[in-house]
Amino acid sequence: MKLIIDDANIEAIKHLIEIYPIDGVTTNPSILAAAARPPFEVLKEIRSIIGCDAELHVQVVARDTRGMLADARRITGELGDGTFVKVPAVPEGLHAMKLLATEGVRVTATAIYTPMQAFLAAKAGASYAAPYINRIDNMGYDGVEVAKTIHDIFGANGLPCEVLAASFKNSQQVLDLVRYGVGAATVAPAVIEGFVKSAAIDAAIDAFVADFEGLCAPGKTMA
Ligand code: E4P
Repeated sequence: MKLIIDDANIEAIKHLIEIYPIDGVTTNPSILAAAARPPFEVLKEIRSIIGCDAELHVQVVARDTRGMLADARRITGELGDGTFVKVPAVPEGLHAMKLLATEGVRVTATAIYTPMQAFLAAKAGASYAAPYINRIDNMGYDGVEVAKTIHDIFGANGLPCEVLAASFKNSQQVLDLVRYGVGAATVAPAVIEGFVKSAAIDAAIDAFVADFEGLCAPGKTMA
C-alpha cells in the first residue's frame, strides 16, 4: 500500500519525506486554503520537494464539467503531466473523468461516500477512488468496510483502479486497510507520526539505554 501525506504544510512535508517511506502528497481546496498562500505557489514548492516521480494529487474546484476540464489542464500544465487530478465523483465529475481519460490525464475520483460512486468513477477511467473513511464513520456507517467493498468491486470487475483511502483520524483505521492491501492511504501528518508514537516504545528504548549506560558510562554510545 502506498502511503501519502494529506497536507500542504511545507515544513511538515519536508520533515515527513526525510524520515518516512512516503509515496506522495494529496491536497484539497480546504488544505490549500489553510496554507494561506497562492495555491500554485504552494503546489510547485511541494512538487519540488517530493520530486517529479512522487505522486501529487490536486483537486479541481469548478462545479461544471467544462470548468473541471479547464482546472485539470491548469493543474497538469503547472505541475507536470504525471500529476493526479482529483475530480469529485458527481455527475459533472464523471463526465469530466471520461473526457480526461481520453486525453491520458490521471484522475483520482474524490468525495466518495458510496461504493457505486467508486464503481462508476473506475468505469469512467479514474486511476484512484478516494473514499472518506472518517467522514463516513461520522455519518454512522463503517468507512473501512466501504473502502474494502470498493477494493473488492475493482478486483471482481477487473477494473484498473485502486482505492486511495482518505480522511483518517487514527492509526487503527489505516491499519485495517494496510492489512486488507488497498492501493493507497493518504494520511494527515499527525496520524502518520502517531504510527510510531507510544509510551511503551519510549519506555523500552529508555530501559535499553539505561542498562547500557550502567555497564559503560552515562551518555556512552556504541560509537
Ligand atoms: C481526500 O481526498 C480528502 O480531501 C481528505 O482526505 C479529507 O480529509 P478530512 O476528512 O480529514 O478533511
